[in-house]
Amino acid sequence: MSAVINSERIPNNVDLASDKKLQRALEAWQPKFLDWWRETGPEGFQADDIYLRTAISVDHEGWAHFDYVKMPEYRWGIFLADRVPDRKIGFGDHLGEPAWQEVPGELRNMLRRLVVTQGDTEPASVEQQRLLGQSCPSVYDLRNLFQVNVEEGRHLWAMVYLLHSHFGRDGREEAEALLERRSGDPDKPRILGAFNEPCTNWLSFFMFTYFTDRDGKYQLLALAESGFDPLSRTTRFMLTEEAHHMFVGETGLLRVVQRTCELMKRNKNEDARAEGGVDLPTMQKYLNLWYSLSLDLFGGEISSNAASFFASSVKGRAKEESYEDHRAIDGVYPIEVPVAAAGGAVAGWRREEVPLRNAMNEVLRDEYVSDSQRGIDKMNRVIEEAGVPFRLRLPSRRFHRSSGIYAGLHFDVDGNPLSKEAWERQRDAWLPTASDEAYVKSLMEKPVFDPKQMANWIAAPAKGLKGKPVDFEYVRRSG
Ligand SMILES: [Fe+2]
Ligand SMILES: [Fe+2]
Repeated sequence: MSAVINSERIPNNVDLASDKKLQRALEAWQPKFLDWWRETGPEGFQADDIYLRTAISVDHEGWAHFDYVKMPEYRWGIFLADRVPDRKIGFGDHLGEPAWQEVPGELRNMLRRLVVTQGDTEPASVEQQRLLGQSCPSVYDLRNLFQVNVEEGRHLWAMVYLLHSHFGRDGREEAEALLERRSGDPDKPRILGAFNEPCTNWLSFFMFTYFTDRDGKYQLLALAESGFDPLSRTTRFMLTEEAHHMFVGETGLLRVVQRTCELMKRNKNEDARAEGGVDLPTMQKYLNLWYSLSLDLFGGEISSNAASFFASSVKGRAKEESYEDHRAIDGVYPIEVPVAAAGGAVAGWRREEVPLRNAMNEVLRDEYVSDSQRGIDKMNRVIEEAGVPFRLRLPSRRFHRSSGIYAGLHFDVDGNPLSKEAWERQRDAWLPTASDEAYVKSLMEKPVFDPKQMANWIAAPAKGLKGKPVDFEYVRRSG
């Protein structure tokens, strides 16, 4: 296992001290990162002691250390999964060749773009979640929000390390730009759509960590296959942290569902809103929104970029070893492509036999869709056990898309084409309205800072973290 150096300014397991130039460059970036964190990180909690885990190595048994820390003093470090000796590339045109320790010249632009795009999502989510602490449902949840936030900060470090160590001057410039863009800023937005959407309440936060962090999981799994070994090693370790983010989303949503059912059962009209809960139809609308935004993150269904990434062995499929043909030259992926008519209506469908490499975004999206479904099934079991007839569901992947073959067209949640007028008439039944948003926010107006309390709209978790009780003081407010 690679040695971990925690005593330095930047904790790392990459022997940073042996490369003074790189070390100096990253140490010069560090204060800019901290400025960014203070400006856009969780507002109002920077002086508090938070019970957080900090990555200190990549050892399976004990990679994290748990203790109270003030967020600006969090030890953001650089950790790559251990090198697999003699690792061979597992897919694409370079199948079977030794993995690259340096960036091949002809793939430099492509790899830089992938690293920057991934890197950009990490600070974006911190920016999106910046104000959520002020409406937290419990101290337990508050701590989980901050855990996710600091780790997204570390994921930014992971990508910036690659930019600094392998992409020279361009890489250093990109690392600066990652701190300059801002989520939702019309002049300097983050690169991808979902990362510019406001995430202004905790229902959105749980949907985000369930759906959008799960997109992150699949992007990381695909990058973990990369022929560029440092990228593979970095993303493999990021996945370890990412699992907790999805845990926060899944258990958060399960707790909302559970509480909603309890509240319905105590009301003679089974009216969750009358009891101060999030009603299931509103949950479904937020689900429709964040699922469709997250589907867009996978890119176009038919994509020459995706084909080049795969052909060049820079981005594979999730769990590439589970496939048989790692070159994917001969396969086809049939896709029904909507044919647009004037005015944005769908005139008909054209079946395309898409060469498999060009359909890699869709292949990855398929894995994502079935993974997303698993948690929805769990939520429906909770609803069913409560004797409530409602069921949550993933809408059709055609619904509310703004990239790919369905963009600019209108579909209902079952995937049936709609005219623009029909879409506009029904949109409010499928996506959160201003009044839904106002209602959800009204439930969360008062933050819960007493460790013994839980907001009315969410059930308590089954257990606390790291063997601590649910009502443990995970956040010690200062002052
Ligand atoms: Fe991340
Ligand atoms: Fe994440």
